[in-house]
Amino acid sequence: MRPPIAMLAELTHRCPLACPYCSNPLDLVRGAAEMGTEDWARIFREAADLGVLQLHLSGGEPAARRDLVDLVAAARAAGLYTNLITSGIGLTAARLAALDAAGLDHVQLSLQGTDAAMADAIGGLEGAFARKLAVAGQIGEIGFPLTLNAVLHRRNLHQLPRAIEMALELGARRLEVATVQFHGWALRNRDALMPTRAQAREAGQIVAEARARLRGRLVIDYVPADYHGEYPKRCMGGWGSTGLNVAPDGTVLPCHAAQTIPGLEFWSAREMPLARIWAENPAFNAYRGTGWMAEPCRSCERKTKDFGGCRCQAMALAGDAGATDPTCVKSPLHADLAARAEAHAAADAAFVFRPAPGRETAGQGAGQGA
Ligand code: SF4
Ligand code: FES
Repeated sequence: MRPPIAMLAELTHRCPLACPYCSNPLDLVRGAAEMGTEDWARIFREAADLGVLQLHLSGGEPAARRDLVDLVAAARAAGLYTNLITSGIGLTAARLAALDAAGLDHVQLSLQGTDAAMADAIGGLEGAFARKLAVAGQIGEIGFPLTLNAVLHRRNLHQLPRAIEMALELGARRLEVATVQFHGWALRNRDALMPTRAQAREAGQIVAEARARLRGRLVIDYVPADYHGEYPKRCMGGWGSTGLNVAPDGTVLPCHAAQTIPGLEFWSAREMPLARIWAENPAFNAYRGTGWMAEPCRSCERKTKDFGGCRCQAMALAGDAGATDPTCVKSPLHADLAARAEAHAAADAAFVFRPAPGRETAGQGAGQGA
């Protein structure tokens, strides 16, 4: 068994934004249940010992943690490459300078829209776009390598060309264009967010054209609209294969939506070494490799390419986490899914935001998976 390359540390579920596409769970970890600085620092050391190279500091909004600078310093002391995944809300020039001094390597800034009207409406916070642009300028002044992350859906997909321009203007080296995935809170908003088939096709064309035009200047990662596609994404690089997530309370997960799969027991890094969890937790071994697969995946030539797609999506759409992801054309449920995608895209639904208390204490602010 190989060690994980990357760890996503969900430092907190608290967030000043309330994006309808939030992929964090419906039941968020409350602030009082979050791990403290020392627990996180120990887990960073355990991760480095296990073989993790990259640490993604996420949430919620990681800037909501008062000890963020200390956490970055602890991660660097452990020898990890650190990437801060943020909406920018809660960062200031002074805080960014302190993060720089602590050794932060990279910043990933989320983009809810390319103008204030769109971005503030989606994030549910007036003035958020202006604050984000100010933070982007400060990031540029310090010289952090920057990735811009845009979650696209039916309401903002027409802004993709402008998002590409903005990435260049802000000096980003990489742009992540991720079509919304329907996990967590986002599933509640499927009727409001599902892109049309025409939008999905056009987005693919825009990305292909921009990749060719901007080769050498901007790397564009693209997650297409999988309900409209033919083959599923290789979720998490394969379950228990290259990465792991640690929730704010220390629960160690193979992916951010794993707790939607019934019957799996997840162990806590508060109580057990990370290396033991990675190797021995039955939840990590449940869908590791290809041995668990049924047909049509078992005899499919792509099974080591996509590992049968996303287990959580199979659970949500097929009611069985061991089934072929229904976004695959070989799934018996695929035709029905494609028809349902059209119906979701044609629905005229309003955004559903998290209830008010959650707006103050929880949510997601930095891309779909924060
Ligand atoms: Fe991937 Fe399974 Fe579909 Fe083959 S049948 S392409 S392995 S999801
Ligand atoms: Fe859990 Fe894809 S989100 S496997």
